[in-house]
Amino acid sequence: MLCSEEACAIASKTLRLQALNYIHLSFKKNLHMQVWNDYLSQNKQRFLDELLDLLRIPSVSADSKYKTDVARCAESVKENLLKAGCDMAEICPTNGHPIVYGEKIIDASAPTVLVYGHYDVQPADPLDLWHSGPFDPVIKEGKIYARGACDDKGQMFMHVKALEVMNNTGTLACNLKFMIEGEEEVGSSNLGKFLEGNKDKLKADIVLVSDTSMISMEHPSIETGLRGLAYMEVEVIGPNRDLHSGVYGGAVHNPINALCKMIASCHDEKNHITIPEFYDKVQQQTEEERNALNAAPFDLEEYKKDLDVNEVWGEEGYTTLERTGTRPTLDVNGIWGGYTGEGAKTVLPSKAFAKISMRLVPHQNSDEIAAIFQKHFETIAPKSVKVKVTPHHGGEPVVTPTDSVAYKAASEAIKTAFGKDPIPTRGGGSIPIIALFEKVLGLKTVLMGFGLDNDNIHSPNEKYDVANFYKGIETLPYFHKYFAEMSKG
Ligand code: BES
Ligand code: MN
Ligand code: MN
Repeated sequence: MLCSEEACAIASKTLRLQALNYIHLSFKKNLHMQVWNDYLSQNKQRFLDELLDLLRIPSVSADSKYKTDVARCAESVKENLLKAGCDMAEICPTNGHPIVYGEKIIDASAPTVLVYGHYDVQPADPLDLWHSGPFDPVIKEGKIYARGACDDKGQMFMHVKALEVMNNTGTLACNLKFMIEGEEEVGSSNLGKFLEGNKDKLKADIVLVSDTSMISMEHPSIETGLRGLAYMEVEVIGPNRDLHSGVYGGAVHNPINALCKMIASCHDEKNHITIPEFYDKVQQQTEEERNALNAAPFDLEEYKKDLDVNEVWGEEGYTTLERTGTRPTLDVNGIWGGYTGEGAKTVLPSKAFAKISMRLVPHQNSDEIAAIFQKHFETIAPKSVKVKVTPHHGGEPVVTPTDSVAYKAASEAIKTAFGKDPIPTRGGGSIPIIALFEKVLGLKTVLMGFGLDNDNIHSPNEKYDVANFYKGIETLPYFHKYFAEMSKG
């Protein structure tokens, strides 16, 4: 047994050691912070200029007219990776647009972070609603306006610049691999094969992605799930040719009328989806889970004001955060047929078309839902028309763990850079490849997004706040540092 003096001496020594350790650690942290901040502030303007150069390339993956621009953009991403410090970077051709792969390996025993992002963008139309050219980036009131500014060039480029910061200050703690694709906005249909064929090359400990949103700079957050997607095209066929709507109107079923009724019947009066079996695999959130999700700061009045709508809409019994985060949906993305030109033309069209997509939540499967939808649409079509349903691309929902080392590292990184713990949220969008990272490579993902919900992604006047761009570059090095430290145990 120790006498009380001895015990006292040991306790005070332990305390002193702990204090010293703490001072040492925070000194190290501050030291890193200092060199990173210095490097960032000395190179700020150049970082932004380089992003603007990338945004000038119209890398629209959906439109074959831009094929050479997409290729040019891949080349530019590769050059940027080499410039930032990658040991190697290469263009990997696919059956579609190329994938850019690059790596910086510092030490075989250090953890490896696989950064995923995409350099392709959505089409810019409708062009007349843009206040400046979509591929002619401008900075107004601290925001970068351009197609791809947020989704995903601006966010992907933060990782490239974070590599430069760490590399040029000699502070890299993890190996880094980059896989930046050019087909995310068209469903990543060639990327699965690339994962299958490059399992060794893509070996890593975690996938890190910045292609999602956070609540705000005041309320940093991390998305811990994404919805899946089943995307369908339907064609409703009426008479074998366009008809005079007076001569035949009232006697022959108009396929546009029929299609509208079929679509309208897909939601009931409580805005639930009426397709049989659609909800069969959807799990109810527990009261605790619902409360946690709804505890995130959210101002419904602000939300409505921002969108200029008098009321929100959605499934009865669920909040707006639940409707976008944990509930599946069905939406018409486009509908056409008949005459839509100037003036009037009295026509009873021969055909009507629509693109319809469903957002899916955990346990729903995109192929199953596509089949369920197809069967339903064929069943509800009146005998007076024919219907053809074609599934497009799909993607599976994902939930990312919040008790992993990687999540903790991301959480600490945000806490260090923002001074606040991040709030876990659920994202409404989809990134189909994330489920395949787990399925094919056995890798979990951390979604460290720095976009805002009102960044107008996929819309005219897409923007990304310059402050978010810099904040991302400031935050990401901490992720690598903490991930390396925490991986050691
Ligand atoms: N980056 C988005 C997805 C996203 C945005 C997730 C915001 C969470 C918050 C991605 O580029 C995207 O637009 N994905 C498509 C799916 C794809 C198959 C076309 C989507 O969600 O519609
Ligand atoms: Mn994206
Ligand atoms: Mn997108």
